[in-house]
Amino acid sequence: MAIQTQELHPGFAAEASFLDLSRPLSAAVIAEIDTTFDAYPVLVFRDQRLSDVQLRDFAARFGPLEIGRSAARPGRRRLAIPQIGDISNLDEDNNVRSLTDRRRLDSLGNRLWHTDASYMPVPVVLGLLHAVTLPPPSPFGNGETEFADMRAAYDALPAATRDVIDPLTAEHDVFWSRAQIGFTEFPPGEREQYPPSRQRLVRRHPGSGRKSLYLSAHASHITGWPVADGRLLLLDLNSHATQPRFVYSHTWRVGDLVVWDNRWTMHRGRPHDEDKPRDLRRATTLDQGSTLNEAA
Ligand code: OGA
Ligand code: MN
Repeated sequence: MAIQTQELHPGFAAEASFLDLSRPLSAAVIAEIDTTFDAYPVLVFRDQRLSDVQLRDFAARFGPLEIGRSAARPGRRRLAIPQIGDISNLDEDNNVRSLTDRRRLDSLGNRLWHTDASYMPVPVVLGLLHAVTLPPPSPFGNGETEFADMRAAYDALPAATRDVIDPLTAEHDVFWSRAQIGFTEFPPGEREQYPPSRQRLVRRHPGSGRKSLYLSAHASHITGWPVADGRLLLLDLNSHATQPRFVYSHTWRVGDLVVWDNRWTMHRGRPHDEDKPRDLRRATTLDQGSTLNEAA
């Protein structure tokens, strides 16, 4: 056993014993980490100092990497590697973005409970988020990231609700999650580039056989239902699934690498002092196929 874990939230989040992730790891260690995600879909590694190259290379051991919506845009970028997502409030010259900066406003969608990239036809699996620079605690908030356990949330639903939702699919649309916070000013062509995608509402976790809710701020309505009914169902499921008993809140330290499995979790960022730099870097692994083709 290369890794031991210390539970942070029962059956959901754990801290892994120290392992230097900047070094090349054996296939056996990678396989062990991968298995640990079955028990703990949120796993915290402390005291790492990974360059973007090292973060990319570690992440790539778990699957092909995503190039996110922001990195896919033309023009200058702060970070050189397209597979490293810029989860920061900094512009191309490392200055804190102004409150009205469009990229900042777009990225505020991360403050809504979501699972990453569920608006893509083939969504993502692991998010690996590494803290480089953090804002100090402030009256505005401390910039924690919260994670909610979608397997436990599914299990806690009444049986009659589970029967209704098991076969349903939802439409996921990144422009819907942004519309909820009043942001609509996308670069030309982006709406055409990211059309909505349909996803199963309930997925089965292959490692444990447990079912899990697949919810996200991107989910706009239920396929085949009147929009209002679907939206109301999604609102109910979201408030159920994000009750404090299902949530682990991560207080960041510089050097943390938090890895979560997007298939069985939702997450959201919390407010912080917008005048201070907050610089996190994210690599993300891609899934193999559409959720619609998964076994129910
Ligand atoms: C993400 C995300 C929230 C945060 O990186 O996918 O949603 O706290 N981050 O920065
Ligand atoms: Mn996210």
